[in-house]
Formats: sequence, structure tokens, C-alpha cells
Amino acid sequence: MNRFWRTPLLILAVMSVSALALNLTLAPAQEAKIVPYVPTPQEVVDRMLELAQVKKGDVVYDLGSGDGRIVVTAAKKYGVKAIGFEIDPERIKESAENIKKAGVAHLVEIRQQDIRTVDLSPASVLTMYLLPEVNLMIRPNIWKQMKPGSRVVSHDFDMGDWKPLKKENIKDGSSWDHTLYLWHVEAGKK
Ligand SMILES: C[S@@+](CC[C@H](N)C(=O)[O-])C[C@H]1O[C@@H](n2cnc3c(N)ncnc32)[C@H](O)[C@@H]1O
Repeated sequence: MNRFWRTPLLILAVMSVSALALNLTLAPAQEAKIVPYVPTPQEVVDRMLELAQVKKGDVVYDLGSGDGRIVVTAAKKYGVKAIGFEIDPERIKESAENIKKAGVAHLVEIRQQDIRTVDLSPASVLTMYLLPEVNLMIRPNIWKQMKPGSRVVSHDFDMGDWKPLKKENIKDGSSWDHTLYLWHVEAGKK
């Protein structure tokens, strides 16, 4: 097996088993959690935002924002408005602490909302670290709601037959491989 695929496939296996375990063991209130928490290493976050070519005036959305690291970095490095959507109260608490520590409360907001219900139309940059089937769930909303020219970056998982403009591999500080995908939203895609 190509070594670039080994890490994403291993992560996918761990995430899928965890997702199954979550579904089997958690109370109904937690059932909306369709992706387990696995944080994106900071150097990979930095590259995701570079790939998206974040610039002044952009609005960055992160679906399933975890501890808020992507939205906090977007605000801190690029001075843009950034909104994270997260279902887990523990992660939301951590995000609030991280936002405060980084001094970006005027730019960053975390909404406790199911990612499947998010209106993506205000976003010009969308970041995701979800699962392949969840990416496919979100894809029609991207095409319907995001404006042409908006950028979408996914960590480790693609979008089925929607071919990326760029795909690149990056190693984190512990030498784990990560794959990043970039798409540009085009007019009239269905
Ligand atoms: C793989 S983690 C990614 C975290 C962050 N985006 C990052 O890259 O570090 C996925 C996140 O999605 C959240 N999540 C799972 N299901 C969700 C749902 N239905 N709505 C909102 N967030 C959800 C999880 O709690 C978790 O924090």
C-alpha cells in the first residue's frame, strides 16, 4: 500500500470504530455526534489556511470545530471573521478558553449546532475534518449555498467524484502523514 494512504486509512479506521462505539453507547442527546474528536495538528491547520488563500474580508467556517484551533488560527493570522460549529459541550468550553487566550473574541464565534443544519452561504472559506460519508452529506449544501470562488479545504478525506483542484501530502511534527484537498466552488454545480 502507498505509504501516503497508510495514515489516513488508519485514522479512518480508528474514527469509524469510535463513531460506531459512540453510536452504540451514548445517550440520545449525543446521537447528533457523527464524527469523533481528532484534532488537526497545528502545522496542518496552518497549511489548510494557506491552501485556502485566506485573505482580508473572508469569512471562515469550520464544520465540527473541536477545540477551535482552525477558527482561532484564521482570526489570529489573517484577521478574518471565523465561525466554528460544534456539538460537544466539552469542546465548546475548550474553544472558549482558546479564543480568550488568543485574544480573538471579537472575530471568532462558536455555535453549538449540528453541522448538517448549517447555512453555508455566509462563508467564503470552509474547512472540514470529518469523515468521507459526512463530506458527501455536506457536499450538496456547498454547491447550493456557497458563492462561486469560495474555497473548501478538507483534511484527510475527499468528496467522492468532486475532483480537487489540489491534493497534497504533509507530515506533522511526529512524522504522521496527512492529506489535504482543496476545491474552488464553481457556478452552476449540482
Ligand atoms: C475530527 S474532529 C475535527 C476538529 C477540528 N475541526 C480540527 O480539525 O481540529 C470532528 C469534530 O466534529 C464534531 N462533531 C461531530 N458530529 C457533529 C455534528 N453533528 N455537529 C457538529 N459537530 C460535530 C466532534 O465533536 C469533533 O469535535
